[in-house]
Amino acid sequence: MKIVLIGFMGSGKTTIAVLLANKMNLKVVDIDQIILKKSKRKNINEIFETDGEKKFREMELQVAKNLEGVDSVVIATGGGVVMNRSIMRFLGKNAKVIYLKKSFDKIKEHISLKEIRPPLFQNVASSRRLFKLRVPLYEQYADMIINTDNKNLTKIVREIMEVLNGR
Ligand code: S3P
Repeated sequence: MKIVLIGFMGSGKTTIAVLLANKMNLKVVDIDQIILKKSKRKNINEIFETDGEKKFREMELQVAKNLEGVDSVVIATGGGVVMNRSIMRFLGKNAKVIYLKKSFDKIKEHISLKEIRPPLFQNVASSRRLFKLRVPLYEQYADMIINTDNKNLTKIVREIMEVLNGR
């Protein structure tokens, strides 16, 4: 099984991918982490500042391409993958795409606690605009949507597994 988690920044994709992979005995792949390793930068913000977003998006496409044929895996994506149709074609190949749907207010709360904010979440107004632009895309690409507001991680993982099992 190939599971792809999509959703806005701060929606829990990375954490939930690890928990879900453990429960389902699958490998876990985190696209941002692969890009970071390849870039030799210290974090994603440094890639954006030094190499630029365009370079980051090229690397994201390359990583997605390499993941086209993988199996037995849960893939955590970056929030921007839905902006590129080719990326979604590679990721979505033989996959179940799951949108982890969180409201903007919850996301804002979560991200404001972080020491380092993602490069595209430096300003609330522009992040809200980006959120509004992307939500329809997450919905469009999703095979299933899991609402995560006010649910703990255990419940979210359980719900995903139930939906995957067709219950
Ligand atoms: C991005 C989200 C980030 C990361 C990069 C760009 C985006 O990942 O890929 O900063 O465009 O939404 P997370 O969604 O894991 O924060």
